[in-house]
Amino acid sequence: MPGLHVFSRGSTHLIDMVRGEGIYLWDKDGRRYIDGSAGPICVNIGHGVKEIADAVAAQMEQVSFVHSSHFITQSVIDCAEKLASFAPEGLDHVYFCSGGSEATEAAAKMARQYWLLRGEPKRSKIVARWQSYHGNTLGALSMSGNIARRRRYVPLLLDFPHIPPAYCYRCWFGKTCDTCDLECARALDTQIRATGPEYVSAFIAEPVVGATLGTVPAAPGYFQLIREICDEHDVLFIADEVMTGLGRTGKKWGLDHWDTVPDIIATAKGLAGGYLPLGATIASDKVYDVFGEPFAHGHTYGSHPVGCAAGAAVMDYVVKHRLVERSAELGEYFHGKLKALYDHPSVGDVRGMGIFAGVEFVKNKETKEPFPPELRYYNRVVDKCFENGLLVYPGVGTVDGVRGDHIQVAPPLVVNKEEIDEIVELLDRSIGEVEAEVL
Ligand SMILES: Cc1ncc(COP(=O)(O)O)c(C=O)c1O
Repeated sequence: MPGLHVFSRGSTHLIDMVRGEGIYLWDKDGRRYIDGSAGPICVNIGHGVKEIADAVAAQMEQVSFVHSSHFITQSVIDCAEKLASFAPEGLDHVYFCSGGSEATEAAAKMARQYWLLRGEPKRSKIVARWQSYHGNTLGALSMSGNIARRRRYVPLLLDFPHIPPAYCYRCWFGKTCDTCDLECARALDTQIRATGPEYVSAFIAEPVVGATLGTVPAAPGYFQLIREICDEHDVLFIADEVMTGLGRTGKKWGLDHWDTVPDIIATAKGLAGGYLPLGATIASDKVYDVFGEPFAHGHTYGSHPVGCAAGAAVMDYVVKHRLVERSAELGEYFHGKLKALYDHPSVGDVRGMGIFAGVEFVKNKETKEPFPPELRYYNRVVDKCFENGLLVYPGVGTVDGVRGDHIQVAPPLVVNKEEIDEIVELLDRSIGEVEAEVL
C-alpha cells in the first residue's frame, strides 16, 4: 500500500476500524457497517464479546506461552475437552494449530502417518474436488480445487487428483434434481480405481462449499454415498469443516446434515470466533488408535495457551447462547427473506443452510450465462453493499475458476430478525443499484 509498510493482499478498503459489537463494526470516523459475512465467515459469536477478552486476558496474566513440546496448560486441556464433546461421537482426539490451512494440512499428514503405521506406505494421495478450497499453504492448496487461487502456483503443488464438485445449479454431469443419480459422488469411486486404491490415503471435502462456489451444499444422499465409497476402498474421509463447523449451517457440523461421520475433521474460523488464530484437526478413535507414537508434526504456535483460552470461551458462548439452534431457527427465516432477491434479473441462485447463504449472479437466468469476467460483477455488488454500509464476502470464478460471480452472506450467529431484515434490504437495494448501472 502506498505510504504504508504493509504488504497488502489487495484489500479494497483499507480503513481503520476501531470498534466492533455484535454484528456491527465502526470505523474511526464513526461510520457503522453491518458485518454481513462475519469477516471471512469466522466471527460466529459476533464482535466485542467481553467474556472472550476476559478469558484471553486471564490466560495472558497466568502464562502467555509455553511450547507444546515442553508443556501443556489447562486452557489447552479445556479447549480440547470442549471440542471433543462438540464433535461427533468417536472423534475425540484434538490437535491444535493456528488456522484452517494448518488444520487441513495436518489432516493430510495425519492420514499419511496413519497409513505408514498400518504398513501401507504407498498410500499418500489425497483425492479432493474441483471448485473447493482447503487453504493457501502449498499442501492445502494442492488439495484445493480453487482454480483461480491455484493457477500461479501449480508448479509448486503436489500432484493430487480432483473429482467434479457437487454443484447442483451447474451440474458437471448435465443433470437436474429430477435426473440426479449422484454421479458427482460416484466419480470418487472411479477416481480411486483409476489412481489405484493402494495409493489413495484420503478424500477431503467441504460439506458446503464456501468461498469457491459461494455456499453450495451437496445434494441429499451425497455424503452417505461418499462414506460408503471411502469405506469400500478403505480410504479415510476428511471433512473440511473450517467454514461450516461449530454451528454455522444450523447443525454442529456441516456433515451432520447428511448424518455422516468422517474419520478426521479439520476446523478453524468459528472455533475461536476470530478473536485469536486457532485451528484444530480432530481424529477419530479409528485413526488415533493406530498411533502408538506421537503425531510427527507441529508448529511453534500449536496448542497456543491463549488461543485455546479464546477457543474454550467461544465454545462456552456458543453453547450458553444456543447459537447452533439459533442458526437453524433463524436460518429458515433468513433463507425465506433471501428468496425476494430472485426478483432481480441478475440473481441466478440463492442457496445455503443455517445462517450461511450464497448468491450467484448471472447475465441470463434462462441460460445461466455468467457475466464477462472483466465486468467484475461480484466486485460491483460488494462495493455497492459497502457504500450502503453492508459487508459481504466476494467470490469469483464460480463457473470454471474464471467466469462466474457470487457473494457469501453469513452474519454472526447472534443476528436477530430485524437485523436480518436490514441486511436483506441493503442487499436488495445494492443489487438493484448495480443492475441499474450495468444492465
Ligand atoms: C473450507 C476452508 N478450508 C480451509 C480454509 C483455510 O483457512 P485459513 O484461511 O484459516 O488458513 C478456508 C478459508 O477460507 C476454508 O474456507
